[in-house]
Amino acid sequence: MHFADLPPLPCYLNGDYTVLSEARISVMDRGFIFGDGVYEVVPVYGPCLFRFEQHMARLERSLAELRIPNPHSRAQWHAIAQRLVADYGRSTGADPEKIDQMVYLQITRGVALRDHAMLPGLTPTVFAMTNVMKPASEAQRREGVSCVTADDFRWQKAHIKSTSLLGAVMARQISVDAGATETIMFRDGWLSEGASSNVWIVKNGVLMGPPRDHLVLEGIRYGLLEEICQLHGIPMELRRITRAEVLAADEVLLSSATKEVLPVTRIDGEPVGDGQPGSVYDLLYAGYQAAKLQARLRRPAL
Ligand code: PDD
Repeated sequence: MHFADLPPLPCYLNGDYTVLSEARISVMDRGFIFGDGVYEVVPVYGPCLFRFEQHMARLERSLAELRIPNPHSRAQWHAIAQRLVADYGRSTGADPEKIDQMVYLQITRGVALRDHAMLPGLTPTVFAMTNVMKPASEAQRREGVSCVTADDFRWQKAHIKSTSLLGAVMARQISVDAGATETIMFRDGWLSEGASSNVWIVKNGVLMGPPRDHLVLEGIRYGLLEEICQLHGIPMELRRITRAEVLAADEVLLSSATKEVLPVTRIDGEPVGDGQPGSVYDLLYAGYQAAKLQARLRRPAL
């Protein structure tokens, strides 16, 4: 659907609730000029903001790295997100209890004359919107997805969830051009991550992922998968992983807010393991669905 034909989707900008087609920022916003900002993408199941505290903790870390003050408390962020989730239902006629959404939050350093320095004292620009979640298809879950590999040509501060995403855009396009779902990247021969997801391998029943360092974005699913592994007695290791290990893995998985956990069954045209989603994936996916359900049962009413 063309942007102009969309219903009036709700958003939040600098203290006001409005709709996307009405929201305006300055061309001198440093987010526009430099990509000088950070963001978060929070999955919402029914009206339950999933793992919200963890998303807030990562937002605080990203802001601190860039020396941008956090304009809101966690409670204020929560209230903004909840209001957008409810408004989305009203503006589209959907029942927020019955649909899953993605809340997007963005903070930039603010508006100033162009100067590379991190000018202090600016008022951050705060933007948030929500949209319906596009989950992986049944076929993708049943058959797994195909990925391609590429060198990780992004910068060395991948742990910051920055709106400067040109590296990610170019990396993702490699898989789009190849008709694949994601680009799995390697830095100097070591697994880093996907263009917009984390990458995991399974060998002999052990789930392995790259360490939490500056070369990957620590997805909120790192902690969640750790919890699910503990619950099911699946050994988990975070360590550097070679390209050869990825290609010889029994299973390869992607994780992100939208993909949840997704099996990869082909890499660069070659099958992963036996070419089918594996048993560790099945356990992790079931554990993920259970965690969603639990979060919904615990949430306060809208
Ligand atoms: N992307 N690595 C990168 C580079 C990412 O962009 C993402 C998420 C992840 C997974 O993080 P999480 O599990 O918290 O979603 C890892 C989001 C969804 C995006 O940019 O839209």
